[in-house]
Amino acid sequence: MEKLKIKNYPMVSPAPTVLVGADVNGKPNYATVGAFGMVCLEPVFYVSLKSTHYTTIGVKENGYFSINVPSADMVQITDYCGIVSGKTTDKSIVFTSFYDELKKAPMISECPLNFLCKIIQIVPIYGFEVFFGEIVSTYLNKQCLTGNKPDPLKINPMIMMGTSYFDLGQAVGNLFKEGVEYKKL
Ligand SMILES: Cc1cc2nc3c(=O)[nH]c(=O)nc-3n(C[C@H](O)[C@H](O)[C@H](O)COP(=O)(O)O)c2cc1C
Repeated sequence: MEKLKIKNYPMVSPAPTVLVGADVNGKPNYATVGAFGMVCLEPVFYVSLKSTHYTTIGVKENGYFSINVPSADMVQITDYCGIVSGKTTDKSIVFTSFYDELKKAPMISECPLNFLCKIIQIVPIYGFEVFFGEIVSTYLNKQCLTGNKPDPLKINPMIMMGTSYFDLGQAVGNLFKEGVEYKKL
């Protein structure tokens, strides 16, 4: 297959769409983020936030942040939180916020999956700060379970790539099983 060498632009890489939450000046604030992911087998996420974002102030002040996974039907409100800043617009009113007993960061009731993370490391990079957060609690909408497992198609998260958001589509295989099938060929 012929390969073209193209521009080094990170947005050509698919990314999960999440809303990062923090209390800033006594109110919940949320920012849309694509630079988010897992880093190891331990329950640790990274999220990369521009240092000048309003959310970043709260994340640093409180030492905690929330990761809220919106479902695809929340695409407009999710994009909105990535367009307007808490510096000029009160984003505390766009969602119903809830807290766990630690009360360290607000989480979004409307999102089917929520994580509260405690910062364990911060790495500055090109005007951003990469926050590594240990997951201290996880909340899932009850109806997103199939049996006793979180069901990705019921959570229905969004992927961003290029200039579009996509839903999850269909499963094409099973982790740690497809390779076993390949080995049998
Ligand atoms: C699709 C999308 C992805 C984004 N990804 C990031 C990201 O990974 N990191 C980041 O710092 N900002 C990201 N942003 C920008 C912030 O969400 C945006 O600047 C927001 O207004 C910041 O809000 P705040 O100032 O209230 O924190 C993204 C925005 C959109 C729409």
